[in-house]
Amino acid sequence: MPVPKAELHLHIEGTLEPELAFALAARNGVTLPHADTAALREAYRFSDLQSFLDLYYALMAVLRTPRDFTDLADAYLERAAAQGVRHAEIFFDPQAHTARGVPIGTVIEGLAASLDRAEERYGVSTRLILCFLRDESAESALATLEEAKPYLDRITGVGLDSAEIGHPPAKFAAVYEEAARLGLRRVAHAGEEGPAAYVREALDVLGVERIDHGLRCMEDPGLVERLARERIPLTLCPLSNVRLRVIDTLADHPLRQMLDAGLLVTVNSDDPAYFGGYAGDNYDGVRDALGLTPDQLRTLARHSFEASFLEDDEPRRARYLAEVEAYTF
Ligand code: ADE
Ligand code: ZN
Repeated sequence: MPVPKAELHLHIEGTLEPELAFALAARNGVTLPHADTAALREAYRFSDLQSFLDLYYALMAVLRTPRDFTDLADAYLERAAAQGVRHAEIFFDPQAHTARGVPIGTVIEGLAASLDRAEERYGVSTRLILCFLRDESAESALATLEEAKPYLDRITGVGLDSAEIGHPPAKFAAVYEEAARLGLRRVAHAGEEGPAAYVREALDVLGVERIDHGLRCMEDPGLVERLARERIPLTLCPLSNVRLRVIDTLADHPLRQMLDAGLLVTVNSDDPAYFGGYAGDNYDGVRDALGLTPDQLRTLARHSFEASFLEDDEPRRARYLAEVEAYTF
């Protein structure tokens, strides 16, 4: 069994495997532009973040009913559990669905039906994080948070994703302020393709508690020192970085330097159906490419639970951490 871990950077729409995409397309009478699953897999050659996002949003056309979202989450949780994931904090992109006429309630209720049974079925505890699309307007983000208000008991926090460059965190100051007022936790993608300055801005203007990716913080030694001192977690996604050409190969990933700098880094899968692997595959990838020791792998697993939003269930966090310490590599 793989080391127990939490997954903190996972877009549920990015877990849509080609086989499920075609099954849902058939169920919903949607025609996909690809001939079959093999042809679709051929399209998974990305040159940058935008080239991936174009396909990611296009394939969402097959997600229409609550059951579609339930099936999507069930499929993810089963795969994640098999790779040692014990706790998953799951992103979803409501605007990508409401823009297609799928109500936010369909998305949240569909996901919740899966998450409600995840512990008993897969042994995975879960949280939901609502993400705003940063290439949409600040007003649209505020309207989305408003639409989510009837479902806030299901939502742990808010995040910020989609095309990063040209959409700095400060654009979303008002919606993050409102999210904080509502008692929601705050995270944001920053420093994936965008500059280290976006990481600083996410911390200073949005008040985020974790940075998703944050890879480019390494270009700013003062920022690295601050992230380490303040114990701000970074949710890294190594296979994603290679597939989206943020780095050339896994061997070029700065994870070891980040660990050496005392950063609270975690390893996650981002959009596993598109990037060639789930959480455990990402751990195995960096272990092999970077020669990580069992001690370093244990540190990554420990970090994942330390960085998780389990403040509402500290006994559970303690149990998970004990499982990590007891694990033999
Ligand atoms: N949406 C889904 N995956 C993403 C990523 N890696 N970066 C930004 N937005 C995303
Ligand atoms: Zn992401």
